[in-house]
Amino acid sequence: MNQPQNTNAWSLYWSEDRLYSCVAQSSDEDQKALNKLWQDFSQELEPNSRVLDLATGNGAVADALLSVNNTLQVDAVDKASIDPKKIVTEHGNLLNVNFHSDTDIFDLSFKPTTFNAITSQFGIEYAGLTEASARVMPYLKVAGRFQFVVHHVQSGIILSSRNKIIEFEQLTQQSGILETLIKVLGGKSEFAQLETLGQDYLKQDLIRSEQISGQVFVGIERIINGFASNPKESIELAVAMDLRVRSELTRLVQLTAAGQTSDSMTTWLETVSAMGIDAMFSPLYLDPIKQDYLLGWLATGVRCK
Ligand SMILES: C[S@@+](CC[C@H](N)C(=O)[O-])C[C@H]1O[C@@H](n2cnc3c(N)ncnc32)[C@H](O)[C@@H]1O
Repeated sequence: MNQPQNTNAWSLYWSEDRLYSCVAQSSDEDQKALNKLWQDFSQELEPNSRVLDLATGNGAVADALLSVNNTLQVDAVDKASIDPKKIVTEHGNLLNVNFHSDTDIFDLSFKPTTFNAITSQFGIEYAGLTEASARVMPYLKVAGRFQFVVHHVQSGIILSSRNKIIEFEQLTQQSGILETLIKVLGGKSEFAQLETLGQDYLKQDLIRSEQISGQVFVGIERIINGFASNPKESIELAVAMDLRVRSELTRLVQLTAAGQTSDSMTTWLETVSAMGIDAMFSPLYLDPIKQDYLLGWLATGVRCK
């Protein structure tokens, strides 16, 4: 079975009522810290400033910026199909954002020197940090500023994603549990085979979590139990679950690939500096004093000429 296209995985993700993506799921401390960072950035912008938010998802950065400076004029782009005004509830700030769905960072049609600020949170690096930065910097006005929060190869989110990837790969492997479930429902495999696979999966010394394998097993049980009374619905549910799991895998593989090393950040710095940008980068910690829990890299700068 094929993995979903990269962009489709994000479109599926953003079709649910959620504002955030790359945060630890057990606590909202990291998102609070990031929100504060964006609010501080926003408060330094003049009223009515034009802001371009790159790879916006469902508009988390735009929401944070507007929450403290509601005169900003924000354009927010993403390559995925997004419709945050319709999908995300209780985020009134998003109503003022000009979202551009299905829009690649490399295909923007804004005029040069349009924006007072450019922002990105775990976004621009998915397009290739250095190349995409070189492409977007001309959209900044002279004295315009940018702030990017970028994945760090050693960040908490990337380290925790590695185990999740292994678990998703086990579930989606060829002739594995999800593929066999669909075959059983379609009459192309025996139920006993699925049962054996399930038992082996639970017995083996594999990475398993309640959040991923636990939920998939609960889903499979429901689907099997409902099959006799509504086979069509069971097959649809199984296909949808399979797609969700494969999409998550695709997303997490992209996420880990987007992690930047100190060397790649240095290359980025050299490139943007050569364009007349006064830039810098540093590791961003949840607790900067104890240097505890690495969130990512913070990359900031001003266009000088
Ligand atoms: C981790 S999400 C971040 C979303 C949002 N900034 C946030 O913090 O919630 C990464 C986003 O990058 C988008 N993306 C990846 N490559 C892109 C590109 N070339 N142009 C525009 N968006 C892109 C994906 O569709 C996805 O929504």
